[in-house]
Amino acid sequence: MNEETGSDRLIQSFTIRWFVLLFGIPLTYAVVRYHVFGGVEWSHFPLYIANKAISLAAVFFIGASYLIGKTVRVYDDEPDKRLILIKFSGLMGFSLAAIHGAMALLLSSPDYYPKLFHEAGKMNLTGELSMVFGVLSLWCLAITAITSLPFMYEAVGAERWKRGQRMGYFSLLLAAGHVLVMGLSGWFEPGGWPGSLPPISLVAFIAALIPLLVRLLWTVTAKPASGS
Ligand code: HEM
Repeated sequence: MNEETGSDRLIQSFTIRWFVLLFGIPLTYAVVRYHVFGGVEWSHFPLYIANKAISLAAVFFIGASYLIGKTVRVYDDEPDKRLILIKFSGLMGFSLAAIHGAMALLLSSPDYYPKLFHEAGKMNLTGELSMVFGVLSLWCLAITAITSLPFMYEAVGAERWKRGQRMGYFSLLLAAGHVLVMGLSGWFEPGGWPGSLPPISLVAFIAALIPLLVRLLWTVTAKPASGS
């Protein structure tokens, strides 16, 4: 329980401040890149542009839930508060990714996403590959979220619980594949970037790779337990 507030609720003033930060950055970025510099009409903000911000925020939150406490040293002297933030970030990442998936399906058409479709209307290989990575990424997140339920640790035991939690890393890997496939061609054309701002897919790719690289480094440099 958090000693400052006497509560283990996930929505608290400090988690709201983290939300403002981790959601505010992608939202500002999307608005500046697409509306201010890209000239996208404001009528497309509610679904099309908001969905870009939501998808990037999802990656930020999932990444944060794995980095907080390991690389990002916050609340070192308040472990309960840190645990609440880790859980909050993980569940927020999952919810935002689910909202993004639903919004993307509503928008799914050659008019919104010409890169993902043939002119005749069917999805092309880029579209199909990218979407399968997205759906599998969401599935991994769902497993992680389910294993986070309060009674799951006792129900499945420590080993399976840890394995469930690690599915979040696969979800990041698949999310990186999801944006790589759809965005790669635009990553090497900086001349076409509105306001010289890199595409959200590239920002998300880097953001997804950071926790994975930290984890890899952690595994490679970890000293083997004595006796093993
Ligand atoms: C049902 C699952 C999913 C579907 C159908 C889906 C669909 C899409 C579509 C259609 C786009 C193109 C959006 C655009 O260019 O505006 C996109 C982009 C993106 N998706 Fe997903 N996605 C799914 C899951 C996920 C998950 C789980 C994540 C993250 C954990 C994610 C992160 C992103 C990111 C960061 C972008 C880049 C946005 C941009 O370039 O503007 N997606 N997704």
